[in-house]
Amino acid sequence: MKTVVNSVRTGAGSGAATVDRVRDATDIAAIIGETVTLRRRGQKLWGLCPFHAEKSPSFSVDPARQLFYCFGCQVGGNVFTFLMRRDGKSFPEALAELADRAGIVLPDRPSGASGRRTQLLAVLAAAQQYFRQALAGESGQPGREYLERRGIPASVADDFGLGWASDAWEGLLSHLRRAGYSVADAVEAGVAVERDRGGYDRLRGRVTFPIRDPDGRVVAFGGRAVADDGTPKYLNTPETAVYHKGRILYGADRARPAWSQGRVPIIVEGYMDVVAMHRAGLTEAVGALGTALTVEHVRYLRRFTNEVVCAYDRDAAGQEAMRRAFVVLAAEGMAVLSVDYGGAKDADELLARGGAQALSAAVAGQMPYLARRIRDGQAAVHVQPAAKARAVREMVELLDSMADPVERAEYAALLERAWGVERKILSQGLAGKQGSRENNSQKSRHNMRRSEVNLGPRDVEVNLLASLIQFPDRMEGVLAALPELCRDPRWEAIRLEWPALAESGGDALASWLVRLPPEAQELVTAAAAVPWPVSGDLVMELARQVKAQWRGREWQHLKSVADSGDPVVAAEISQLFQEISASKRSPRREG
Ligand code: UTP
Ligand code: MN
Repeated sequence: MKTVVNSVRTGAGSGAATVDRVRDATDIAAIIGETVTLRRRGQKLWGLCPFHAEKSPSFSVDPARQLFYCFGCQVGGNVFTFLMRRDGKSFPEALAELADRAGIVLPDRPSGASGRRTQLLAVLAAAQQYFRQALAGESGQPGREYLERRGIPASVADDFGLGWASDAWEGLLSHLRRAGYSVADAVEAGVAVERDRGGYDRLRGRVTFPIRDPDGRVVAFGGRAVADDGTPKYLNTPETAVYHKGRILYGADRARPAWSQGRVPIIVEGYMDVVAMHRAGLTEAVGALGTALTVEHVRYLRRFTNEVVCAYDRDAAGQEAMRRAFVVLAAEGMAVLSVDYGGAKDADELLARGGAQALSAAVAGQMPYLARRIRDGQAAVHVQPAAKARAVREMVELLDSMADPVERAEYAALLERAWGVERKILSQGLAGKQGSRENNSQKSRHNMRRSEVNLGPRDVEVNLLASLIQFPDRMEGVLAALPELCRDPRWEAIRLEWPALAESGGDALASWLVRLPPEAQELVTAAAAVPWPVSGDLVMELARQVKAQWRGREWQHLKSVADSGDPVVAAEISQLFQEISASKRSPRREG
């Protein structure tokens, strides 16, 4: 998103103008009306919010300002934001779709490359059809038997589009040739391997799992060997022009609606684990498919959420992958919860053993990853100094990866109490790791991103912004009184773009909005939806209230960390809270 915002701002001259043209040619009410039934009441249109479950309409569309806002879940934005939210599209994708509909040709759209992409997607779709038919047909017997052995009914196989790649060396290839595609097409799509002047099928003797992009298009395949014959258990088709494994999460197409409803994404390791979760009704689950979780994966998820549940395999490899995932997630400001499968190895095994209920119960037992590590390590660190040293070092590394300094400090305090680690050692560790300045400033760009949702009642902050929109020249005074405001990247973005809004006298809110990252857009649209005029005198008073609320929040967070732990941890740190509560008492009374 950041790069998009930049390109809108500085991009090839026509960037911002094009965005404006597309927006002006689009009616937000019509676009939203396609999926939400809207009724007019006063100046606005109202309907049931598509982003959270509700029975009475709190979702509003303001046709005059071309903005939407939900009073229930506080999601808001313009027509681009709406498509990004609803369909998980990136900004360029949303722009491209709306431009298409409005008949506006976007400048420098790489039509040659996109034609090739379309071609590859067609090859993959044909392959998918072929694998599906094969599973149902005569040659599919071993595949069907394998699925039966794994306890996967035909309905689930249909649901996930599972198929069968037979032993034949050129089964798929000859099918594709008959359909008019060349060997080169099949190789480029990743489903065939080049050989001499021909090629052969990449997946053979395997159950196929179509890997889809978030729009549901098949972009790659995974294949599960049905026999233990020394070949790799899973084989994936390689990266291609349409498949970047660092970007795609298996099952995202099926999980997206759940995320849009506010369910927290669950990340698992394997294909079978995704299938298992979905079978247990946990449709918010996706798989990272044996690759490490990447920053791109995380940024994609962040369009929907500020927290993630990791449910990695129980074995050492799984726990190591979990640790790495934490580092990537925490650096992006995500809260990381973890799941323990108990005696089972992974989601699939737990489902097979204990059914949907056991799997749901395991997921329901999620708790913050670090709190779990601190709790689980407690027994060992008190009796084994060497184990403790190792564990502390690893903890310091994990703490250091966290983008949110407030949270980092809270966990350091927790560790100090629960494991009896001296603060000095922790802070030395942290300071030592924070070598590179550049790295630090990069981190602080992301910090507070997730704490945004934890601010509790956002009303005060929203009101503050609403008053500022009415009195744009008061911004300077507010920033002077409340410099911490810009630690929140949303406010920082707003501050940077503020002069442009102030110049327009606050009229051009909808077009000003595209300059901001999505989180900031939500805050602005929430403020724009505040129905009452705010008096200018109130501005400073609101700033003061925001400050008080933040202090209260810091306390609440500490408390929730304690509540989520087990009794031992809770007892050990309750003393800490008593100390803190003494020093926090006055701000609490205020907020
Ligand atoms: P696992 O080895 O945990 O497999 O690998 P699994 O999910 O439990 O598989 P089943 O239940 O035995 O069928 C997790 C993921 O790592 C990738 C796959 O995406 C797999 O789902 N992987 C694993 C490979 O790509 N290649 C392999 O050889 C093994
Ligand atoms: Mn597994």
